[in-house]
Amino acid sequence: MTPSLDSYRPTWAEIDLDALAHNLAAVRRRVGTRPVLAVVKADAYGHGAVGVARALVSEGVERLGVAIPEEGVELRRAGIGAPILVLGGFAPAQAELLLRHDLVPALYRPDQVEALSRAAEKRGGAADAHLKVDTGMGRLGVPASDVPAFAAILESASGHVRVTGAFSHLAVADDPTDPFTHRQIDLFQEAIAVLRARGLAADEIHLANSAAIMDHPPAWLTLVRPGIALYGYPPSPKVTPLAVRPVLSLKTRIIYMKEILPGASLGYGRTFVAQRPVRVASLPLGYDDGLPRLASNRGYILVRGRRAPIVGRVSMDLTTVDVSDVPGAVLGDEATVIGASGAESLGADRVASWAETISWDILCGIGSRVPRVYVRGADRDIVSRFDLI
Ligand SMILES: Cc1ncc(COP(=O)(O)O)c(C=O)c1O
Repeated sequence: MTPSLDSYRPTWAEIDLDALAHNLAAVRRRVGTRPVLAVVKADAYGHGAVGVARALVSEGVERLGVAIPEEGVELRRAGIGAPILVLGGFAPAQAELLLRHDLVPALYRPDQVEALSRAAEKRGGAADAHLKVDTGMGRLGVPASDVPAFAAILESASGHVRVTGAFSHLAVADDPTDPFTHRQIDLFQEAIAVLRARGLAADEIHLANSAAIMDHPPAWLTLVRPGIALYGYPPSPKVTPLAVRPVLSLKTRIIYMKEILPGASLGYGRTFVAQRPVRVASLPLGYDDGLPRLASNRGYILVRGRRAPIVGRVSMDLTTVDVSDVPGAVLGDEATVIGASGAESLGADRVASWAETISWDILCGIGSRVPRVYVRGADRDIVSRFDLI
């Protein structure tokens, strides 16, 4: 039996699985019949990888993408059987682990090819893999100009390694006017031609993150890889919007209230000093729970549909807000850090702007001690790292 939410510190994230399904449908409407590889790395951008992956699989998503083998194993252990691509590749010592859990890795180093081939040979079979090509992101992948040489390595391992796909990642797709994306698409197509000329199948070729799904149809190829769009945010204000809505709300409750007098200070560093009497509400949530420290004395939280400015420094577990202009605010009131309250709504992108960062960073930063409550219709399923029974 799962305890009720009342058994936990009153700070929780609600994951609206109906919104997730709605966003997947919006992506599908945009890209036609192409299969979708849903990116669920980094604990599904903070939404909880298992809950999100289960919901997406029940909505018919064709593939899942994780960053590291460990994330794939977590999904397999939870009973998720959908094909999983490990986008970030693997350490050679993880080759056997990949095969044991039926995870398809990205390949970009000769020692990975060798390790995968050896592990597959030991099991008496062949391993599927996708070649990662670097067309300009510059972080990981075989540089496009080196693909012919790497293809020779893949060819020599073809008894035990099957190249069933190839992919690359776009650096500036969130600016639809930047010509660099076209260069990346062209380079990738050239790399694919090299692979195919060598008889390396690479049937699945993919490039499109959320931004490319919105604005770069030539990048859609045979499969698309949305992340942030599934979670309900545009990759930037410049893209053509897709009809998606935020999946996650982050909520807490007022656990202490007091009035402070002019001259009194709040929090570490005494960065807020009252100039007038202030009604202060303390919230049991801090930077470990996803509210960035840079929101200190800059951002706000919603209480009773009104904006309550953050006063003093956001600390690890606690935040103080000014509720002087929130009529009727009392102990126990719900406070919305991300989500809607009355007519107001606050997105992860707005919170990100206070911290000079991006919505991805805010969502991924919601700590693991925050229970996730999965909401689908009238059902609510609470998932916490803490076993309180
Ligand atoms: C290789 C790869 N593909 C796709 C995505 C999804 O990107 P987005 O969240 O912008 O849709 C990511 C995320 O960083 C990624 O690393």
